[in-house]
Amino acid sequence: MEIAVIGGTGVYDPGVLQDVHAVAVSTPYGDVQVQVGTFQGREVAFLARHGAGHAVPPHRVNYRANIYALYQLGVKSIFATAAVGSLQPEWKPGDFCLLDDFIDMTHRRDSTFFEGGDAGVVHVDYTEPYCGELRQYLLDAAREVGLFVHPTGTYVCTEGPRYETPAEVRLFASWGAHVVGMTQVPEVVLAREAQMCYAGIAMITNFAAGISPTKLTHAEVLAVMEENATKLQRLLFAAIGRVPPGRHCARGCHEAARELGSLGRPS
Ligand code: HPA
Repeated sequence: MEIAVIGGTGVYDPGVLQDVHAVAVSTPYGDVQVQVGTFQGREVAFLARHGAGHAVPPHRVNYRANIYALYQLGVKSIFATAAVGSLQPEWKPGDFCLLDDFIDMTHRRDSTFFEGGDAGVVHVDYTEPYCGELRQYLLDAAREVGLFVHPTGTYVCTEGPRYETPAEVRLFASWGAHVVGMTQVPEVVLAREAQMCYAGIAMITNFAAGISPTKLTHAEVLAVMEENATKLQRLLFAAIGRVPPGRHCARGCHEAARELGSLGRPS
């Protein structure tokens, strides 16, 4: 199975996948429940990042187990959704953004598979943190289904689970970032270490604190996700339909940890 969807906040079911069944995957980092189904005759994995019913907060998601489980299943391309707050007044709730860069403001997460010793040490290049090819499939898919998307965007990942302060939001905006959320790091980082292509589809659910005229609530985030769920599914699956079987990434994602030589994979 080459393709996986990681569903973030508000995306808890595998959508249009058929013949869905649960698969339990054991990894060195813990067990993971993945749902596997078919789309246009191909097997696709679906993983709910926060577990069913949003039971796991962003700072406690077992990112290493999740990515390792997909890696063990043979996944090469990950499409991940993320609810985000907007840092820019002209980027509005209900807009989609295809992420192409991030700023890491997390500080207590396990962010690597390579902890030294037998696992080795590797310093992976993040000049292109998100896969440009998968982003292009999403852009083409957006055109196909008639959906406006911001074609690029910089994501600030905070530790959470609290929302940001207005001063933090002013700072992040002054850095040129566009959106803020709590889950892309270390997910996108680990995917690259595991030499998988990763695309981040951000759905703006609110203006960030201090820009928003009202105080933020999780209920507001969920409501906007729900309103836009159908559009998100259409975009996702139109993009998945464009990924050629057996594709090898021309952007080098599949060799991102090549410093490890022939191993080139997490231990
Ligand atoms: N901040 C952080 N994470 C979020 C937000 C936000 O404003 N909205 C949705 N996820």
